[in-house]
Amino acid sequence: MDRINEKAEKDISAEFVRIDKVLQGEPLDYSVIVDRISQSVPFYRAALKNAAISGTAVINNPFWWSADEKFFNNALAVKLGVPVPKTVLLPSRNHPDDTSDQSFRNLAYPLDWDGIFNYVGFPAYMKPFDGGGWKDVYKISDKEDLWKKFEGTGQLVMLLQEEIIFDDYFRCYCIGGNQVRIMQYEPRNPHHLRYEHGKAPAAQKLLDTIKDYVIKLNQYLGYDFNTVEFAIRDGIPYAIDFCNPAPDADIKSVGQENFEWVVETAATYAIDRAKKQKDGLDNLTWGQYVRTSCAQTPLTGGNTPEALDAQTTTAQVASEVVTEAKAKKEKAAAKPKATKETAAKKPAKKKE
Ligand SMILES: Nc1ncnc2c1ncn2[C@@H]1O[C@H](COP(=O)(O)OP(=O)(O)O)[C@@H](O)[C@H]1O
Ligand SMILES: [Mg+2]
Repeated sequence: MDRINEKAEKDISAEFVRIDKVLQGEPLDYSVIVDRISQSVPFYRAALKNAAISGTAVINNPFWWSADEKFFNNALAVKLGVPVPKTVLLPSRNHPDDTSDQSFRNLAYPLDWDGIFNYVGFPAYMKPFDGGGWKDVYKISDKEDLWKKFEGTGQLVMLLQEEIIFDDYFRCYCIGGNQVRIMQYEPRNPHHLRYEHGKAPAAQKLLDTIKDYVIKLNQYLGYDFNTVEFAIRDGIPYAIDFCNPAPDADIKSVGQENFEWVVETAATYAIDRAKKQKDGLDNLTWGQYVRTSCAQTPLTGGNTPEALDAQTTTAQVASEVVTEAKAKKEKAAAKPKATKETAAKKPAKKKE
């Protein structure tokens, strides 16, 4: 906030958001809100969605952040060709409140545990599918160890994941979907020595690959502010944790230089978003996953944001024309030739 104000850009200033009431469809009167807290306060999450529909650019998109979790994000990484540890989703040890055995009749009992163990292997990690802050993260040595630790997980939905026994580890900030700060890191050290590890610097080629993966993941997820962690095994970076939309950036943990990068990059980015904000429009970032889904184009293969804008418009036009053609068909029931084919051709004409 101080950094934005120091820059003294014309008509731009920053302050803590102040809320004294939240009325449906009423704006909060900010061009941009940087959200660092709604993961812990559902009231704020709902207030931010209400601000978003009223034109505020919320960093990060509160809708996407309400939707994704680590398991889906791993599935997305698989589709994008970004290496991730082999991972399976486990049903919670205990039934969620107000459910019964009947609610789980779709589950085989027992699950195909041998199939699961053969896929993941041991040692493994078990962690909540939507966790953070190293909470309830367990290292698992074998089957017996898993049963023991699974017993204590209650209603949490857990992932069981191959352990990547790593030679090196990186934590990377990504701001604005394209600005990347790669930090060599040693998670096995005590907190104060994680960034001061004394390791030799990494090869440029590896750093380039990491940067490429960080940008790809964040472009597809649609996060404006996130961190991605990689464990390196045999020269391959495996994405371990990339669902951190309010990542730690404490000067005491990341050090002066990384802290300075985050403050400066985030301040400049927030100002940029304020300049681009347009009243009466949606000013959120929507990732390529959502955009390709809406445009009904394949997930990968040169779908630039510009191309997607054009495709979305075409898809909208197409569906409008199909609806129109359907209505005509219903009217003129005597003309059975008004078929799908006609409807499908029309949008092509309109494109011309
Ligand atoms: N599959 C894995 N292989 C190796 N180390 C892992 C793996 N999963 C987690 N870890 C270790 O556990 C730490 C916490 O797990 P992480 O997935 O980052 O959870 P959180 O979101 O709670 O930070 C990681 O920083 C890493 O050191
Ligand atoms: Mg982590």
